[in-house]
Amino acid sequence: MKIGMFDSGIGGLTVLHAALKILPDEAYFYYADTDNVPYGEKTIEQIREYSGKAIEFLMEKDCDAVVIACNTATAAAAEYLRKKYPIPIIGIEPAVKPAVEHNGGKRILVIATAVTAREKKLEDLISRVDNEGLVDVKALPELVGFAEHGEFDSPAVNACLRKEFGSADLKQYGTLVFGCTHFNHFRHALEKIMEPGTLMIDGSAGTARNLKKMLNEKGLASEGKREIHYYRSGREVDDSGTLAFYESVMAHLEEGEE
Ligand code: DGL
Repeated sequence: MKIGMFDSGIGGLTVLHAALKILPDEAYFYYADTDNVPYGEKTIEQIREYSGKAIEFLMEKDCDAVVIACNTATAAAAEYLRKKYPIPIIGIEPAVKPAVEHNGGKRILVIATAVTAREKKLEDLISRVDNEGLVDVKALPELVGFAEHGEFDSPAVNACLRKEFGSADLKQYGTLVFGCTHFNHFRHALEKIMEPGTLMIDGSAGTARNLKKMLNEKGLASEGKREIHYYRSGREVDDSGTLAFYESVMAHLEEGEE
């Protein structure tokens, strides 16, 4: 089966990584919209247009389903895209529900892009599951740019996080929810500023499970052969530098689990 995935850049590789764990033998078409990154600083109309282009490209590649491996595009465009295109579309949402269920008596901080942080979709999700008012949301606009340059734990990243959190009382948080797929790449840098033992949750594994469930329900059987194709805004990634970068990010995610 052919599975399309898109994000504004390398954030969605975390979803690809999670999907490969439970659906290892499919053909994946990963579309990084690097011409238009960061989505989190764009208008809703722009995000819908870019996401539509990504889906059309993936449909031309004969994908059987598309995963929006981007919280921002899910918040801004998922419903619009589902109405517009006939292909099954799976989105990703910040894992607020599991965070609330396992709060351990402490507060929860959701970090996201500016668009996700102010979109109604997140507000609705929080008001559905957060009966005790435990959840705070913070936009971190600069991290996506660092990630796209492969800078995950540098002095500049650490300085940016110190500046963003300033004098915030981070001790009150027992859980950090990654509401942007790019933020998974900063796990180590974030561990340094959060309280030791802070639980870090992201929605990649849940999204991969939703994908598997949907494919099973539709009876879409595996072709039995793993393939991964990378594209940047519709252009095949064939230069060795970028391919090596994407593969090193995937390897980094694998190491993080060991
Ligand atoms: N990785 C995306 C997300 O999950 C978007 C980041 C961006 O382009 O601003 O929100």
